[in-house]
Amino acid sequence: MNSKNKLDSCIFVVFGATGDLMRRKLISGFFNLHKKNMLPDNFSIIGVGRRDYDDEAFRHEMCLSLDEYTKTKLTKKEIWRKLRAKIYYYKMNFLKKEGYIGLNEYLKKIELDNDTKGNRIFYLSVKPSFFETISFNLNVNGLINRKNKFSRLVIEKPFGRDLFTARKLNKCISKHFNEDEIFRIDHYLAKETVQNIMVLRFANGLFEPLWNNKYIDNIQITAAESIGVGTRAAYYDQFGALRDVVQNHLVQLLSLVAMEPPDSFDSYHIKKRKVKLLESISVYDSEKAASNSVRAQYIKSNKLKDSIGYRYEEGTDNCSMTETYSALTLEIKNDRWDGVPFYIRAGKKLKYHATEIVINFKDTSSKLFSDFNLSNNVLVLRLQPDEGIHLLFNTKKPGNELNIKDVKMDFCHKAVFGINTPEAYERLLLDVIKNDSTLFTRWDEVENAWKIVDPFLKSWEKNKTNLSFYESGSWGPKEADLLIEKNSHKWNIPIYESICRIR
Ligand SMILES: NC(=O)c1ccc[n+]([C@@H]2O[C@H](COP(=O)([O-])OP(=O)(O)OC[C@H]3O[C@@H](n4cnc5c(N)ncnc54)[C@H](OP(=O)(O)O)[C@@H]3O)[C@@H](O)[C@H]2O)c1
Repeated sequence: MNSKNKLDSCIFVVFGATGDLMRRKLISGFFNLHKKNMLPDNFSIIGVGRRDYDDEAFRHEMCLSLDEYTKTKLTKKEIWRKLRAKIYYYKMNFLKKEGYIGLNEYLKKIELDNDTKGNRIFYLSVKPSFFETISFNLNVNGLINRKNKFSRLVIEKPFGRDLFTARKLNKCISKHFNEDEIFRIDHYLAKETVQNIMVLRFANGLFEPLWNNKYIDNIQITAAESIGVGTRAAYYDQFGALRDVVQNHLVQLLSLVAMEPPDSFDSYHIKKRKVKLLESISVYDSEKAASNSVRAQYIKSNKLKDSIGYRYEEGTDNCSMTETYSALTLEIKNDRWDGVPFYIRAGKKLKYHATEIVINFKDTSSKLFSDFNLSNNVLVLRLQPDEGIHLLFNTKKPGNELNIKDVKMDFCHKAVFGINTPEAYERLLLDVIKNDSTLFTRWDEVENAWKIVDPFLKSWEKNKTNLSFYESGSWGPKEADLLIEKNSHKWNIPIYESICRIR
């Protein structure tokens, strides 16, 4: 299926190629694909930026980035030598028309030299404010090839700031690219465990019969980061946790966990089910949104050395009301999920780094054990770090008396399959070349996700003072605990110790 013989020749134009994403993720994605011989034979990468580089300077920069960011030192000379010859640089200002005219001429020359057949992929690794300008200019300046050729547009998140701006952005981009030419990135979707959600649910007879409100008590999705805003403060201060993580990554995870089985495993059928699910999530009014959400910001911790509060981070406003943590309760109005709360939280500077989906089962144990204090079964899908699955169940403690204890059964992805699973961006770059949009978000998915999240943004805007605070290194604000204690629930603490014992 991954045979490169089936891949069309193409040129990959990365706008914003001197930026952080290209250096940290994209170039290693290209490098790994090249190393595995999975790129088309006729293939070129054109880095576009405003820095005064030539091809050699840009190639050198990419080589340094590979050394710095790839986990295994991959810049072995022979492999790199072949890839570097396919890399070029074009200097332009995104805001100037003449840049696009010049770029088109440059692309034609590279296409002739490398026989890439006029097929073009434009990757916008740029600030969202450039999305409209670049797609407009690509069209009006004749850079989009069609007739017997293809052109594709890859867009990074965030797609809009709210429902209104996302619709406006989509309307603009759709004037220049058709929906099937647009690839909206949500790199979470390319993580192995995320793809494994569907396999776990539908390839095992064991779980699906229990995957409903008769057996499941509540579902929790947590994206906890132990780091703060780092070098992304200027961006983050404009967006916050709800827009940065919840609207895209976590709503996508929810749709995969909760959707009905698709008729087939292809992009169309999976997206159809995801959209149907998203449409059945309750869209709250402002009052209900306020009572079903918490937003908070991290402050300094006296227990942690060198700890500083969000407002003192370099690049943030010192009166900033941007949330670095948000927690929501969502409800799905369909037969399968009616009555099951979905708790979603994302935060920075939390106790440790962990992204998990936790399925908390109801107590449906036999009356035989009614005198025992049994734990309910829990299934944890661990997305990062140490991708894996844990199942908590009850067992008899050895001994003459009947004592019962909960134990954990662990599956660690790395331990079974090794560490060579592709990085998310590697998979996504390949899928764009293959024209497979399964792991990208279609417009109706994005639009429905904004419809769900918009009322929370609106209610927070109305009541600007309802920002809570939490100490760096904690598990978030006490208000988040109260949010779910209303339903007699507690947040599951993410599993800390690594379960991975590599053979
Ligand atoms: N970085 C990440 O980990 C990450 C993760 C997920 C999503 N994203 C998304 O990916 C996109 C890129 O992020 P990033 O972190 O790589 O951004 P970045 O480091 O700020 O890079 C932006 C790029 O755009 C170029 N640029 C800015 N204005 C320009 C202009 N007028 N003309 C020509 N070039 C111009 C910059 O050139 P100079 O180098 O000359 O400034 C740089 O190459 C954003 O949409 C972001 O939200 C990033």
